[in-house]
Amino acid sequence: MCGIVGFVGAEECADFLVKSLKRLEYRGYDSAGIAVFSGGKIKTVKAKGKIAEGLEKKLAEDGKPSGTCGIGHTRWATHGEPSDVNSHPIGNGRVSIVHNGIIENYRELKAFLSEHGYGFESETDTETVAKLLDYYYDGDPVDAISKAMKDIEGAYALGIMFRDFPDRIFAIRKESPLIVGKGQGENFIASDVTAILDHTKDYYLLEQDEIAVVKKDKIRFLDSHGFEIEKELKTADWDLAAAQKGGFEHFMLKEIHEQPQAVKNTISPRIKDGTPCFDECGLSDEKLKNYKHIFIIGCGSAMHAGMVGKYIIEELSRSPVIVDIASEFRYRNPLISKDDLCVIISQSGETADTLAALKLANEIGADTLAIVNVVGSSIAREAKMVMYTNAGPEISVCSTKAYAVQAAFMYLLAFRVALAKGAIDEERCKTLTAELTGIPELIGKCIEEKAQYQYVASKLIYADSLLYIGRGLDYALSMEGSLKLKEISYIHSESYAAGELKHGTISLIDRDTPVIAVATQSALMDKTVSNVKEVKSRGAKVVMIYKSGTDIGKDIADYTIELPCVSDILMPLVTIVPLQMIAYYTSVLLGRDVDMPRNLAKSVTVE
Ligand code: G6P
Repeated sequence: MCGIVGFVGAEECADFLVKSLKRLEYRGYDSAGIAVFSGGKIKTVKAKGKIAEGLEKKLAEDGKPSGTCGIGHTRWATHGEPSDVNSHPIGNGRVSIVHNGIIENYRELKAFLSEHGYGFESETDTETVAKLLDYYYDGDPVDAISKAMKDIEGAYALGIMFRDFPDRIFAIRKESPLIVGKGQGENFIASDVTAILDHTKDYYLLEQDEIAVVKKDKIRFLDSHGFEIEKELKTADWDLAAAQKGGFEHFMLKEIHEQPQAVKNTISPRIKDGTPCFDECGLSDEKLKNYKHIFIIGCGSAMHAGMVGKYIIEELSRSPVIVDIASEFRYRNPLISKDDLCVIISQSGETADTLAALKLANEIGADTLAIVNVVGSSIAREAKMVMYTNAGPEISVCSTKAYAVQAAFMYLLAFRVALAKGAIDEERCKTLTAELTGIPELIGKCIEEKAQYQYVASKLIYADSLLYIGRGLDYALSMEGSLKLKEISYIHSESYAAGELKHGTISLIDRDTPVIAVATQSALMDKTVSNVKEVKSRGAKVVMIYKSGTDIGKDIADYTIELPCVSDILMPLVTIVPLQMIAYYTSVLLGRDVDMPRNLAKSVTVE
């Protein structure tokens, strides 16, 4: 949610800033801008719209500001509509800032600053911070930043330039993520490491309330009291290729194709002697045996992966699992206790609601386990135990490989919980684990079946609305399939438990409302087939996704997609592929912006 980048070095920086912003554009793309120290001034160029349509055009028309020190921003609008004036960087010539997060007390700050003679041009909360820094500034930037931080309430990562200090940028953070990159004779700030990977892999993670003073050959870190601190230099294990399209038309398609390897990378390191093993984070069988409840919390696709977890953990271990949307959990006064395990799922590790839910579970005293993709992210650091999903960077806003690895992880957890609780024996655990290790290859096979997904997509593009139905695990998959489609095609869809259709939703069915029926669970097949008949007899066109070898009867659906035959419990890991691919091709055929769908952002660091 909003991307920040900054550069201090020996070379012209405008091109670098724009290139890096493009890598961060998945965080928000309502507008973008850069500010560069140039000829004793801070020169700012910013424009509404995606970088290619707004900022780049403006830079081509007006010329690039020349200079070797600058900051840049790509915005996901919160306060104030997307417009040139609401774009960042924001400042008054003396101070210029880029901001990610929300300033909660901006109204009070605005009133205070107005009383002291400041005027405001934009509708943003960010402008109050720029003006507050200016108000406190009397020649000492760090002093001004420290004073302003005491007044600001909310979440922020800030990149700051003071006109009087053209050789450096300042950075601070609270809640929103920010890293400081260390290069050779050049240094950086960025919302995440993908922005700077072609220059360096070495970076520092800025912690809460820390201030960084970044010059081309020196980086200083100060705590909130202004005391100098040492920080550990980290090295990213992502390379540049992982953050580029690599010949694919879209990041989403590339990331779908990366799923077999990503799932392998998640499960393989955690299988010891044929069974899942969580020694890496201290999640022992003793602990797993004694938890009274398991809670699984996440947002969006991460929560949907948790739904798969619920079904399979309950099925195998016969113990209750509560799945909750993070934004609901945190305000529910949840019935979680210190005897429970709270599993927090997040690709980015920065989602504000998920992070808040984690903190709440920690406060209550539950054991917390984060299943996270981004190493060193806030959720990873805040949780008592963490395990990484090793999927590499996911750039497309619409999550695919991150969901696949999160779901795959749920299997490791389910098998181990069931073993620890004595609900399955070692033999069965080994059989299940062995079957799981064969899944990546089958995911690859499903991905190859492009023609049928394209065909189904070509039938969906005329629909205003459609329904995804399924029972049990198939319902969990329907939820994710429906989310994929609406996110990137803008066609309305709903997922429904197939058995619940007749309690209201079936009234939506007519010949223009296609239905995607997910029917991979043998025990529920007949039931779902009956539901398919019900919608078909009301005119719906039906796409049925089923497991090969199942007798679904003749002419049951208008189009069928056959999946490889694996144990019912493992079917979600292959079923997800057609659901992702159908959404992808529908979006492509409709000419949508697949990787940057309207109104969305990938890393949602605001409530
Ligand atoms: C956003 C993304 C979703 C994602 C959700 C949770 O809404 O668009 O694709 O599933 O955030 O993100 P997380 O990083 O916590 O997994």
